[in-house]
Formats: sequence, structure tokens, C-alpha cells
Amino acid sequence: MQETRRQVLDAIADGPVAGPDLAAALDVSRAAVWKHVEALREAGFDIDADDGYRLVGTPSFGATAVEYGLDAPFEVEFHETIGSTNDRARHLARADRTDIVVLADEQTGGRGRLAREWASPSGGVWLSILLRPAVGPARAPLFTLAAAVATTRAARRAGVDASIKWPNDVLAGDREAKLAGILTEMGGETGRLDWLVVGIGVNADVDPAAVSTDRPATSLRAELDGGDVDRRTFTRNLLEAFHALRSEPAAILSAWRTHASTPGRQVRIETPDGPVTGRAVDVVPPGSLVVETDSGRERVSAGDCEHLRPVSNNT
Ligand code: BTN
Repeated sequence: MQETRRQVLDAIADGPVAGPDLAAALDVSRAAVWKHVEALREAGFDIDADDGYRLVGTPSFGATAVEYGLDAPFEVEFHETIGSTNDRARHLARADRTDIVVLADEQTGGRGRLAREWASPSGGVWLSILLRPAVGPARAPLFTLAAAVATTRAARRAGVDASIKWPNDVLAGDREAKLAGILTEMGGETGRLDWLVVGIGVNADVDPAAVSTDRPATSLRAELDGGDVDRRTFTRNLLEAFHALRSEPAAILSAWRTHASTPGRQVRIETPDGPVTGRAVDVVPPGSLVVETDSGRERVSAGDCEHLRPVSNNT
């Protein structure tokens, strides 16, 4: 968000401030104050001007809504509707940009892992974070794990009992239905990571029946029994948690362990080399799952993981 606009909002958040006082405080002309107020109104902020300027309402979603009060250095680009936020972020990567979040209310060509379609109706939090971390490509999976942790934290702060299924699905509720998925894409030359696009799709204020995923789906709305979903706060919490983790990559794996439900579970993983079945034991750098199988321990770096129900002793 433009810095002067942020200052205007901060100044008028707690009560009416006369135009001339605001102009003096920000060291700009009264005409400039008026222009900033008009721009903020256009972005959805409700600003009363009866007795000085006073902020009476903030927009529920959008770029300025998320950027206002965001404690992370991301610029947010919002689209009511777009093909895919990952595609847009990749385009921005080619233009040498970084630390941009492409956020959409609806996607018409959302993409999931393994070239699957990702249904993205209006009401979701569909976003892609473009970054250029100073690490090699082998460490890129860490940022996917960080995104899963950040999404899980934001869901928990919203009152939803969420956890991570390896490597990057966020599940919720007793049925362990899918709440969110992550698609990370990267660019660079051999041995060098140029850019990373971390795409996060959260079924937020949507009907689970409207989102077709590869497993039973849920949404924040459904988990809150139809209660209000504050997408602005959710998105802000997610981005702040992600920023904190990417700033301290050494802490990502342990954070993942404390938010994941896979370790300790019987799993079946479809890998490019065939299925691996056994008990998930741990996750090791840069995000591989260690599975105790009948023939010993195996490290799995990629695949579709299914949590198997524990076999009952009575059968
Ligand atoms: C999965 O298959 O689980 C990953 C789904 C990732 C979907 C998100 S929505 C925002 C971003 N844009 C896309 O086209 N895909 C990702």
C-alpha cells in the first residue's frame, strides 16, 4: 500500500481529524489529502467526512484490505477473477518482480498438483506468493512446507481444527477433509533458483460441494458451521506466518512437525516408482517423508499420500 495512504488510515482510525490538521501532520497539501481519501474510498474504505475525516469501515477483501495492517513486506495484487494466480505470478517473475502476492476472489483456470484442475469459485482465498529466496533448488520444498504451516496456523486462528497431511495438504475436521492445497513452481538454471511461486488455494467462504478436489473437501465456512469467514484477517495471518517462517528457514521443519498429522500414521504413498506403504516416522530435509515399511525405512521425496485408518484389533 502506498505509504501516505497507510498514514492517512492510521491517522483517521481513532476519530475525526480535520483536513488541515491531517495535511499538516502528513506534510502534504489539503488537495493531496482529499485525493488520498478518494482513492481509499474507491478501494472500499468507508471514510466519513462530516466532522473531519474518520475511518468507519474497511473493505472485507482485496489488495488494500489485506495490505492495511499487514506486518510482512508483500505487495498485494488483487483480481476479482483471473485464470490462475500462479500463471500471473510466473508472468511477474519474468518481469523481475519479487515479494508480490497475487490474490483472487475467483479463478477460472486454477491448477492443482499433477496437472489436476483446481476448482476456485468466488469466495475462496486463491493466492500465489512470488519470492526469490537465496537458496538452491534442492531447498525449494521447504517453502512449500512453510506455506502449509502458515495456512494451518491461519486456519487455527480462525477457529478451525486444521492439520497438515504430507507434503502439503491442509485437512480439517473429523473426516480429515481437504481444506487447502499448495502448488509450488520454480524457475532458474541448473543448480540455481531464480524464482519461486508458492500457490495456495484455501476453500474459504465457499460451499464444499462447489470445489472438486481429489478427496472429500471442506471449507472454513463449513468448519465454522456457516459462521462468518473473515478472509481479510485470514489472508493477513497466513502471509505474516509465511513471512516469519521464510525469514528463518532452519525453523520450518520443526514447525511443520508440530502442525502435521502424518507422522505416526499408517500411510500409502503413490510415488513415480510405485506405491510405498508403512508407518510414517518423520520428515527430514528438505521435506522428505521417512516411512517404516516391511522391508525397512524408505525416504519418499514426492507422491500422493493417503492416511490409512488404523486396522481394528477386533477384526
Ligand atoms: C493441490 O493440488 O492440492 C494444489 C492446489 C493449489 C491451488 C492454488 S489456488 C492459487 C494458486 N493458483 C493456481 O492455479 N493454483 C494454486
